[in-house]
Amino acid sequence: MSVLVTGGSGFIGSHTVVELQTAGYDVVVIDNLANSSRESLKRVEEITGKTVTFYQVDIRDREGLNAVFEKEKDIECCIHFAGLKAVGESCRLPWEYYENNIGGTLVLVDVMRKHGVKNIIFSSSATVYGDPDTVPVTEESPVKKCTNPYGTTKAMLETILTDIQTADPEWNVVLLRYFNPIGAHKSGRIGENPNGIPNNLMPYITQVAVGKQPFLRVFGNDYDTPDGTGVRDYIHVVDLAKGHVKALNKIREKNGLSVYNLGTGKGYSVLEIVKNFEEASGVKIPYEIQGRRAGDIAINYADPTRAQIELGWKAELGIREMCEDSWRWQKNNPNGFEQ
Ligand code: NAD
Ligand code: WQD
Repeated sequence: MSVLVTGGSGFIGSHTVVELQTAGYDVVVIDNLANSSRESLKRVEEITGKTVTFYQVDIRDREGLNAVFEKEKDIECCIHFAGLKAVGESCRLPWEYYENNIGGTLVLVDVMRKHGVKNIIFSSSATVYGDPDTVPVTEESPVKKCTNPYGTTKAMLETILTDIQTADPEWNVVLLRYFNPIGAHKSGRIGENPNGIPNNLMPYITQVAVGKQPFLRVFGNDYDTPDGTGVRDYIHVVDLAKGHVKALNKIREKNGLSVYNLGTGKGYSVLEIVKNFEEASGVKIPYEIQGRRAGDIAINYADPTRAQIELGWKAELGIREMCEDSWRWQKNNPNGFEQ
């Protein structure tokens, strides 16, 4: 059996390919390299000692996808990471986000069913909970209106995949709601490689640490949280990747439709992340408190109990490892995958 991984050369995808290959799966990756480098999968091969079959194909390209399924007859399941993911950019370019993320997924799912492959694991996001009324959020917490087109694509795709599975119960769908993935592979060879100035907290901190940014802007210290800064559930990308291997086991049991939170269950504030990073790296992170960032919420963290009970998955790596591994990746690769 092989697993098709869309977006497999990206941050979460590349770490998941490592875990899939380590668990013995054959992996076929398609990626248009819009936000990743060919180099990441070369390094995955170096880590696992196995070959990754790669096609530079866009998920909106029906003919390109057809050709992959014609050639790769063993594909039984798709882990679908491919998508655009920058919140701010999605507010400027909503058409591009809807067309890429939703249009692309519709083409992918159509080609899959034409080839009799009706198993999909989808990268959703904690963003579908919007600003939750209570924390921790369970999978039963309401899905709320998102404040940006990126988040809306995730909520809409959850609905689309749910409707497709309801109409045709031969489909098995797992919706994975990731919290805030950080960290990197222990080897320091693969990690997050944002284009331009990072939007997310940890890559921004690591760029300050390596001297690429002068200081961290802390977006607001007047939230209703213990120190006033935003609280999130940061999860090590390797734990997240392992969650996909567990979800694959579930899908092979013919699960129908399932939804899981992938988080640790513990929230950290921005200032706690800064402190933990400084301790792990030995590097001081200068910061300045600024105003709140539009669209931010005060606090969100997961109740990951369902994934523990039904998938046998639990995050194992703590904040120390998350910070150490993010730092090792950035320090060893100050320019990402550029040589
Ligand atoms: P990433 O940008 O590193 O990876 C996404 C990959 O998809 C990239 O390699 C990109 O080139 C590829 N891609 C984009 N559009 C494509 C298309 N039309 N055809 C083929 N390939 C395409 O992002 P990531 O952080 O690894 O995220 C993976 C998935 O998880 C995304 O769907 C993202 O929305 C979701 N997610 C990410 C986070 C996060 O904070 N990183 C949180 C929740 C959910
Ligand atoms: C975390 C905290 C910021 C940067 C986003 C998406 C979400 C998901 C994960 C994909 C917040 C603060 C940040 C900085 C700061 N992605 N911060 N200075 O906003 O929780 O989630 O990424 O699905 O959809 O919205 O993550 O890392 O941007 O922010 O103070 O330079 O760090 O205000 O409290 P967020 P983040």
